[in-house]
Amino acid sequence: MFNVAGKVVCVTGASGGIGRSIATYLADNGAMVVGVARRESELMAWSKSAGGNTAFVATDLSDRSLMPENITQIESHFGAPDILINAAGINTREAADDVTAAGWDITMNINLMAPFFLAQGLVPAMQRKGWGRIINFASLQSRRAFPSGIAYGASKGGVEQLTRAMAEAWSSQGVNVNALAPGFFPTELTESVFADPVRSNRNAQQTCIGRNGKENDLYGPVLFFCSSASDYVTGQTLFLDGGFTAK
Ligand SMILES: NC(=O)c1ccc[n+]([C@@H]2O[C@H](COP(=O)([O-])OP(=O)(O)OC[C@H]3O[C@@H](n4cnc5c(N)ncnc54)[C@H](OP(=O)(O)O)[C@@H]3O)[C@@H](O)[C@H]2O)c1
Repeated sequence: MFNVAGKVVCVTGASGGIGRSIATYLADNGAMVVGVARRESELMAWSKSAGGNTAFVATDLSDRSLMPENITQIESHFGAPDILINAAGINTREAADDVTAAGWDITMNINLMAPFFLAQGLVPAMQRKGWGRIINFASLQSRRAFPSGIAYGASKGGVEQLTRAMAEAWSSQGVNVNALAPGFFPTELTESVFADPVRSNRNAQQTCIGRNGKENDLYGPVLFFCSSASDYVTGQTLFLDGGFTAK
């Protein structure tokens, strides 16, 4: 039931952080994984270390005009993906009074536009097979306002609704769409948070479990959403946050 062996998976953000961890885990479990991000050297290093059935596409997902070519490139390696994981994301951390047009646009493009248009390009093949999975990445900021998080929070609030709307559009054709909303996991994105021990500890204490997230914490929920174990689950956002939002 929790099997991904033989599935073709596209993971965006595979050059680092959460995307890279997930891409490696799924490849270790027998999936054929295409990683997508901008940094070719990092993608190549990931693909070499993950070995086996991995490939990559180096592209800028914030550029909508590249989407048709991105789809062609992604499908060229192992055929059309069964599963899309939209893990690429950015947080410009601009305060509300200082948000720039460029900061706003890039945040919306990567966090909200790319997940939708990638999905729109990859869904037809999933519909033809009658089975597919899309996993988006929401955030604590999908529901909570953090300082200097206005563009990021708005984009992640959008991701939660995007997930419901995608589920409404495609689930009847076998394509289930869900989102994971991580708490605090140490990656490049959260470097400034973890560099401050007081802040990092405060975040840990805000959880019910009493610690921040670790790589291993991602795998069970990802496997659930990627496999037939979640056949009757769609349009949902699962908070993978140690109980941060429960407290
Ligand atoms: N870490 C956390 O605690 C946390 C908490 C809540 C939600 N999240 C969400 O989880 C997802 C992964 O976060 P993370 O912590 O792993 O972040 P990360 O370590 O900063 O990694 C972000 C990934 O996105 C890729 N990316 C950024 N801009 C891109 C672009 N224009 N085109 C293509 N790829 C691009 C980066 O690759 P390149 O630089 O090579 O392009 C990188 O692989 C994000 O959606 C984030 O919002 C994370």
